[in-house]
Amino acid sequence: MKISASFLSIKDNLKENINLLTKCDIDYLHLDIMDGLFVNNKTWNISEIKDLINYNKPLDVHLMVYDVYKYIDEYRNLNPEFITFHYEVNLDIMDIINYIKKFNIKVGLSIKPNTKIEEIIPYLPYLDLVLVMSVEPGLGGQQFIVNSVDKIKKLKELKGDYLIEVDGGINDQTINLVKDVDIAVIGSYITSGNYEEKIKSIKEKIYG
Ligand code: DX5
Ligand code: ZN
Repeated sequence: MKISASFLSIKDNLKENINLLTKCDIDYLHLDIMDGLFVNNKTWNISEIKDLINYNKPLDVHLMVYDVYKYIDEYRNLNPEFITFHYEVNLDIMDIINYIKKFNIKVGLSIKPNTKIEEIIPYLPYLDLVLVMSVEPGLGGQQFIVNSVDKIKKLKELKGDYLIEVDGGINDQTINLVKDVDIAVIGSYITSGNYEEKIKSIKEKIYG
């Protein structure tokens, strides 16, 4: 299992702390991009992001926005490993998938806790990644929603050629519930303490 670290909950010295985080044993840097419309919270704009981040680790972009094409055009220039958008934007999902692929960027589709796996089945063959939100998107530090475990199980059973990622409320306890995923996004659990130690404690749970 790979770890994608989210810096959403870092309060102070963001740039320095992102730098520290990306020197740790993580696989991806997770970028939570919110427009204040799709979710009730707004994060950094693209020029702030360009100033804040480094490229020590591959980028995992999570778009929680309605104006998906505008944000893809901004973030594709950072050469991310993944751009993930939300099924609930109610746009032409297939067209967005093809748009991201055109730039040779891996495409992820995310679903909120109340969206069923069945709804996204038609898109699964075209996806590189499915992101199961295990909290309502918008904020770090929330509690893991347990029904996410069933969704991950269903995605596994479908045996598609996509990675499964989980995001929200993952800590050294809830990690035990999601051992099947390919990538776990972890935010406040890591950033609320010594990053190296927190990551080590998660890895101990993953690998025993
Ligand atoms: C929530 C974000 C998550 C969040 C995870 O909308 O998508 O990436 O930062 O943070 P924790 O691990 O604190 O739930
Ligand atoms: Zn996220």
